[in-house]
Amino acid sequence: MILMFEPKITKMAHDNKNHEVFHAENLVVFDRNLLFLKDKKFAEVYKKTYEDSAEKNRFWRVHVFLWAFINGLKLDGDLIECGVYRGFSSAVATRYTDFGKINKTLYLFDTWEGIPQEQLDKNRIQSNLSKYEDPSNLKKVEERFKDLHNVKIVKGKVPDIFHETEMPENVSFLHLDLNTSSGEIGALEFLFDKMVSGSVCLLDDYGHKIAAIQAVEEYGWFKRREYFICELPTGQAIIVKT
Ligand SMILES: C[S@@+](CC[C@H](N)C(=O)[O-])C[C@H]1O[C@@H](n2cnc3c(N)ncnc32)[C@H](O)[C@@H]1O
Repeated sequence: MILMFEPKITKMAHDNKNHEVFHAENLVVFDRNLLFLKDKKFAEVYKKTYEDSAEKNRFWRVHVFLWAFINGLKLDGDLIECGVYRGFSSAVATRYTDFGKINKTLYLFDTWEGIPQEQLDKNRIQSNLSKYEDPSNLKKVEERFKDLHNVKIVKGKVPDIFHETEMPENVSFLHLDLNTSSGEIGALEFLFDKMVSGSVCLLDDYGHKIAAIQAVEEYGWFKRREYFICELPTGQAIIVKT
């Protein structure tokens, strides 16, 4: 069995007993089954796809992404990621699902020039924003998806770029990972009505303290539409379109 992660055995202060600890990306849990880490195919794809330390330990977040992506494959419509960066999550999902053989399109939207200045959330601490402006990111995405005829890479600012793109009628998966409230709310205004019943909208940053402004905006946006957001321990959040 290919294990990506060996849990640490740690004696916990609360009961002085040994526990299996999973710790990655600001998430610490103990004594969990973590079956997704024992999924041989996931482990193989993940190992072949990750290229740096930032991508290396995102198992749980990518597992959630994959779950929502696979759900979208069973529904009518196409899949959309807004905020792609180097395309890691979508690369794992398309490889895991053999997406090239599936009669659907995955749209990947990004400026590949960073977060637009006017969309930056005031008071949000963004570490190393310039990494999103590196031209090698788009090259990496083009390389990662070069063999997939049904992945459409679209460069431009969300939501404006939607008006210049032939957009799908129906959306069966939406990933929002723009790190900006106005960008993500703009995307929701345009795309949420297109999402089909049962499809998952996945918010990447919702639970993280640094994204508090975004979370409050999104909480309100969904509440006004009578949707209840499920915040996950990974920092992500999910909404199922009904
Ligand atoms: C956190 S990264 C995305 C990471 C990616 N989803 C992954 O799983 O690896 C955020 C990306 O959003 C892009 N971005 C931010 N605001 C945007 C906007 N309004 N329109 C398009 N792209 C934007 C940035 O250029 C950056 O590449």
